[in-house]
Amino acid sequence: MSQRVLITAGAGGIGLAIAQAYVANGARVHIADINAEAVEQITSQNPGITGSIGDISKPEDLDSLFRDVQSQLGGLDVLVNNAGIAGATAPVSEYPGIPGMRYSAST
Ligand SMILES: NC(=O)c1ccc[n+]([C@@H]2O[C@H](COP(=O)([O-])OP(=O)(O)OC[C@H]3O[C@@H](n4cnc5c(N)ncnc54)[C@H](O)[C@@H]3O)[C@@H](O)[C@H]2O)c1
Repeated sequence: MSQRVLITAGAGGIGLAIAQAYVANGARVHIADINAEAVEQITSQNPGITGSIGDISKPEDLDSLFRDVQSQLGGLDVLVNNAGIAGATAPVSEYPGIPGMRYSAST
């Protein structure tokens, strides 16, 4: 049975490249992305890829996404949680932090 794969932020950049690599290796892929136009274009041009439009930082969009995954793939074998934020690049001891997260570091 082919692998069932969900890729967040899968309609562009690294996520789309991962999606295409999985499809080339026989997987069934579902992408989730906030860019509706890109999701529609990719899914219409790639029979092995289905998609959901939404913001993966919003719980209500995640609920809808996993309903779509269940109906499109019938379950999930692989989650590629590619969506994220770049943030600052700095040593941990100098990192400015992200609101809501706690850090501790000693040198
Ligand atoms: N490109 C790099 O060199 C690099 C290096 C380290 C980490 N990363 C991380 O890898 C991930 C992908 O990077 P990339 O360069 O492919 O980015 P990209 O900007 O090329 O693509 C990001 C995709 O995410 C989608 N997206 C943005 N916000 C979203 C949201 N809230 N919900 C759903 N989809 C959303 C965009 O529509 C786009 O399709 C990011 O988390 C990035 O921080 C990238």
